[in-house]
Amino acid sequence: MNQNLAKQKEYWDREVGEFDSIYSHGKSKFDNWIDVTFRWDMYARFEYTLKHAEPIAGQSFLDVGCGTGRYALELARRGASRVVGIDIAEKMIEVCSRRSREERLDDRCSFLQSDLLQYLAAAKFDVVIGIGLFDYIGEPLPVFTKMRQVVTDRAIISLPRFWTWRAPVRKVRLALRGCDVFFYTKERIAPLLKQAGFSHYEIEQVGQLYCVTAFV
Ligand SMILES: C[S@@+](CC[C@H](N)C(=O)[O-])C[C@H]1O[C@@H](n2cnc3c(N)ncnc32)[C@H](O)[C@@H]1O
Repeated sequence: MNQNLAKQKEYWDREVGEFDSIYSHGKSKFDNWIDVTFRWDMYARFEYTLKHAEPIAGQSFLDVGCGTGRYALELARRGASRVVGIDIAEKMIEVCSRRSREERLDDRCSFLQSDLLQYLAAAKFDVVIGIGLFDYIGEPLPVFTKMRQVVTDRAIISLPRFWTWRAPVRKVRLALRGCDVFFYTKERIAPLLKQAGFSHYEIEQVGQLYCVTAFV
């Protein structure tokens, strides 16, 4: 594992509970208010992904950087035929595996600690998702390319926008916690998708993010 990945893994293994509480609203009243007010686009990208993943029932999904499984498990609940979640952080994978067993989704869901670039897919997936992933990827082209290689229909991804007030705040806040974070312009995203081999794509601005659906 290279140095950047090792740093990411360490950071995310530490942040599991804090990260998941953005979804569960399990923080103090004030911190929940901060999330809903300043991180509303995290909830909006969840809706974007589920909408653009339709028809979900019967399709297979790879969730790259699955975190605590909020997306992967929801796809399984909505009838996906097979969902694989991968993440470099083992503590994230432990949470996903436990939740999928508790909900008896483990016949269709599996979770694996892996970096995408090292992951060997036994079969291709209809859809690959990478939500909140590219924020932490310093060299995105190999990741876009691998996503294209493992998918037969489309990729759904989110990327944090470069020209926002939040970008410098996050850069400094996460650097102090030992985590590198990266930002993207629209002009940078388009050639990356083309070079990775996607034929066409749509980019939607959602708050301080871009949400992208790229087609094979
Ligand atoms: C912000 S979390 C997003 C989790 C989830 N997708 C969500 O939106 O709820 C980013 C996750 O990406 C994982 N990650 C970062 N780089 C990765 C890589 N190269 N391969 C797999 N997972 C990675 C981190 O460990 C972390 O759990």
